[in-house]
Amino acid sequence: MVLSMLTDAQGLPVATERPETIEAIDRFVQAFLGYGTDFQPILDAADADPTCVVAQAHAAALMLFAETGDASEKAKPYIRRGIEAAQGVSERERLYLWTISTWAAGDYGMSLMAHKALAQKYPRDLAAAKIGQVRAFAIGDSASILSIGETVLPANADNHFVYGMVAFGLEQCHRLADAEAAGRKATEMDRRDPWAHHAVAHVMETEGRIDEGLAWMEGLADTWEQCNSFMYTHNWWHVALFHLDRDDQAKALEVYDTRVWGRLKEYSQDQVNAVSLLARLALRGVDVGDRWNDVANYLAPRTDEHVDPFLDLHYLYGLAKAGRDSEAAKLATGIMVHATKVKPVQQVMWQQVAAPTARALVSYVLGRFDECADFLGQVLPNMHRIGGSHAQRDLFEQIHLDALIQAGRIDPARAIVDRRLALRPNIAHTRRLAERLAA
Ligand SMILES: [Fe+2]
Repeated sequence: MVLSMLTDAQGLPVATERPETIEAIDRFVQAFLGYGTDFQPILDAADADPTCVVAQAHAAALMLFAETGDASEKAKPYIRRGIEAAQGVSERERLYLWTISTWAAGDYGMSLMAHKALAQKYPRDLAAAKIGQVRAFAIGDSASILSIGETVLPANADNHFVYGMVAFGLEQCHRLADAEAAGRKATEMDRRDPWAHHAVAHVMETEGRIDEGLAWMEGLADTWEQCNSFMYTHNWWHVALFHLDRDDQAKALEVYDTRVWGRLKEYSQDQVNAVSLLARLALRGVDVGDRWNDVANYLAPRTDEHVDPFLDLHYLYGLAKAGRDSEAAKLATGIMVHATKVKPVQQVMWQQVAAPTARALVSYVLGRFDECADFLGQVLPNMHRIGGSHAQRDLFEQIHLDALIQAGRIDPARAIVDRRLALRPNIAHTRRLAERLAA
């Protein structure tokens, strides 16, 4: 059966007879690129229009972005419907369905390959390009984050979102000046582009431009109020990092209490931001009171999920720091067992990175600093394989450094502190560490 075609706002043909489906697709793309919350219409459209492959694939992607333990199961009915309807649709629609179904199956590499093909052949499909960047991000493939953004840029030069997408790829590839220019351009084209704000914040954080970064983010923060909880809490997480780098722990804690933790406590990414900030505060000696316990209440039900190693490691650290020994042990052993069962394409991230890092994190919390330093020292060069940004993964380097110091291994600790100081000489906390180690 060949379905009739309508055209979406990006000028892409979509196999559907329902104008309402096109409207729902356009709203999904806008909400997805802008980190909004207008996602119910695409779920309704997927049910009302079961032969629209794009609507089915978007709905499945939404289920996967929820990152719950049953995310893949929830995506399956949409993928199944999409496959049943795929015979009469265009190559773009079939490729897009393929990217989402391989993602649901945990084959990030295969999914990314199809996203690159989509970006080359159908660069107006910005939602697919954006999801492709997320897939690349999840396996630490910074070059692909950038290449997808650059591939779709010429066909979308009038769209501010594409500059934010390119900006983050440039930042992750250490092309900081170009990243800042692209992020600023997006923000000039439309002030409400939280991902572009975020890319520029990464540049300023990396370059130690702390006051400037704080002013940049706080000057735009009013536009984040309508964002989904990931973007809202993550941009505020970056604000808190600037406060920490300014040595203003009280302000960082205030941002944690008022902005970072509390938006959507059940969501994986809110939890990652919370654990990541509390951990940094604790590493600087701040008494965070009962806050670990509150986060752990939401982490405790996740010990059997193993959706993603980057998530699992944050859940584990939060549980261990809260003293939830039995849940932490369950998750740590679960990671170890899961690593032996994953498909070959996921073995590196689970076996070579997640399992030894899990052991290192528990060792650290137990005060077994030598063991932590040994495990993390071995795994840090491969840490990018589990995804996350440089700024996010820096937490593991900070824990490694603290473990070395606590274990009395001064020479390797000093080498790390010297390197950090050379990159950002104005950070008071790093200077204090250098002085302490010199003494
Ligand atoms: Fe970030």
